Amino acid sequence: MCGIVGYVGYREAQPILLESLQRLEYRGYDSCGIATLNDSLTMSKDVGRVVDFAKNSPKIHGKAGIGHTRWATHGTVTSANAHPHLDCTGNIAVVHNGVIENFQKLRDDLTKEGHRFNSDTDTEVIAHLIEKYYQGDLKEAVSKALTEVTGTYAVVVLAKGHKDLVVARQESPLVIGVGDKENFVASDVAASLDYTDRTIYLEDGDIGIVSPDSITITNNGQTVKREEQIVPWSVEDAQKAGYEHFMLKEIHEQPKAIENTLRAQIPFIKPLTILGAESEKRLEDIMLIACGTSYHAGLIGEYVIGKLCRVPTRVKIASEFDPNCIALEKTWVLGISQSGETTDTLRALKHANSRGCPTIGITNVQGSSITRITEQVIFTQSGPEIGVAATKTFIAQLTALYSLALKMAQLDVKAQESYQTEFKTLPSKVQQILDNEEQIAEYGRQLAKCDNAFFVGRGISYPVAMEGALKLKEISYIHAEAYAAGEIKHGPFALLRSNTPIIAIAPRDNTYDAMLTSIKEIKARGPQVIALAQEDDEEIQQFVDIVIRIPKVDPLFSPFLNTVAMQLLAYYAAKERGCAIDLPVNLAKSVTVP
Ligand code: M6R
Repeated sequence: MCGIVGYVGYREAQPILLESLQRLEYRGYDSCGIATLNDSLTMSKDVGRVVDFAKNSPKIHGKAGIGHTRWATHGTVTSANAHPHLDCTGNIAVVHNGVIENFQKLRDDLTKEGHRFNSDTDTEVIAHLIEKYYQGDLKEAVSKALTEVTGTYAVVVLAKGHKDLVVARQESPLVIGVGDKENFVASDVAASLDYTDRTIYLEDGDIGIVSPDSITITNNGQTVKREEQIVPWSVEDAQKAGYEHFMLKEIHEQPKAIENTLRAQIPFIKPLTILGAESEKRLEDIMLIACGTSYHAGLIGEYVIGKLCRVPTRVKIASEFDPNCIALEKTWVLGISQSGETTDTLRALKHANSRGCPTIGITNVQGSSITRITEQVIFTQSGPEIGVAATKTFIAQLTALYSLALKMAQLDVKAQESYQTEFKTLPSKVQQILDNEEQIAEYGRQLAKCDNAFFVGRGISYPVAMEGALKLKEISYIHAEAYAAGEIKHGPFALLRSNTPIIAIAPRDNTYDAMLTSIKEIKARGPQVIALAQEDDEEIQQFVDIVIRIPKVDPLFSPFLNTVAMQLLAYYAAKERGCAIDLPVNLAKSVTVP
């Protein structure tokens, strides 16, 4: 949601903070700022992108500093609302990610006590509370201040007279990058990959003192040891590698993401025959919970688990999760979140935990919050995803969900082998679509001219259509809606015009004939129809305007291939429209507010 960084060590902090903030910009990008400590605190902040701020901001000195890239929640996008925020004395600077729910009351009380506020943010109350409690011990003051706060936070505090940073975490991610005579703090590991791959993941309730050569962490007043872990990603993984955008690079990394995720084992998942025998926590149904693109992966997972395992499976948008709709202990709850930090998903999982349900997380990020609140974790192996639009992590989530379904299913050896063989062909088939990029790009450029588009699919292709529409709208700002193809005649037909393209997903599965009927009904009303159809489908071309050819695959696996084609369509439409593809307006990569 916002990106936080901090540095203490022997080097000038400013260049490190600016470099690290650029790596975190995908978390928020409406304004940014830094503060460094020399003899006193110096602060610099502004609205706009970090890259421009880095070019234009004045040099400030100091070997300790903090920085922030913002995604506005409280208060509009202004320089005053950008972080860091200071107390009245100007000696305490705070950067914060999260939401302080009781900030208005705190602000009113502090105002009565004589504190003067310079911003509309919730964060500023933290700086003033620390000032209120400060009596020479910064950590003590931070600790007392945070007991007054309800809500979520990752906080880094820098203060005059202290060579260390004080850090704290409650439901918002915060990691410490461990260096040699220097240490780094950040919202996620991507920020300090240039400097170190050694990381400590803070946990809820942790408060720490980070100095150049030591890190001390307490929780509930007790000193705690948090194990250091090695980040499995390299600096190159988090760079564009010659691609114009991270999104394009990440689209091209999908064959590798499937291969790597396929290779990862899921040892704790057992075939249903064995699960049925464990009477205590017998599996009765499965509930998948997620948001956005991960929710779409869940919808496809529902279909696949339902088909292969014949276990009642439901999917819920995490923010709509109602703990009353799960049968105690017998519902397996699977949370899907590439970042592992989405507040809505984490809250739903916590509810599930409190009701005694077995919980499993599917995530791409080691050390993320979801890994700490679920009993078991399946890691997708996509490498870091920087573009705000989820692409390779979605494909890897599908890989994990299909692997899980195949592992649980009671299939005969022949059927199991046949699915596994098909699964293994996916990386090369995705590659074939990528090799056809130029043709899809041309259709994407044509799509750029429209203001509205519909994506339609049936069966397993309906959630694929939802994902296609989401990709197009979030990066090109073209209004796009997804419909189950059979539903579009029940109202949306009123919106069809010759300049409203319809993207129809038409794999050769049991919905194919019905899909052709829908396409004919749509066509009769004037719109241009772009079909995603199997490479050997001769029939469809007489009914549509454009056919994007998709390699032949068992229809159950068609979501992998159709999604990649739609990602390219969206990418090239957005590029033609000159959009900021990796950092779309108003969005952030990781949504850590409810
Ligand atoms: O990190 P998560 O998978 O939990 O994120 C969920 C959504 O915020 C995310 O998928 C969002 O919809 C993407 N930006 C879409 O491309």
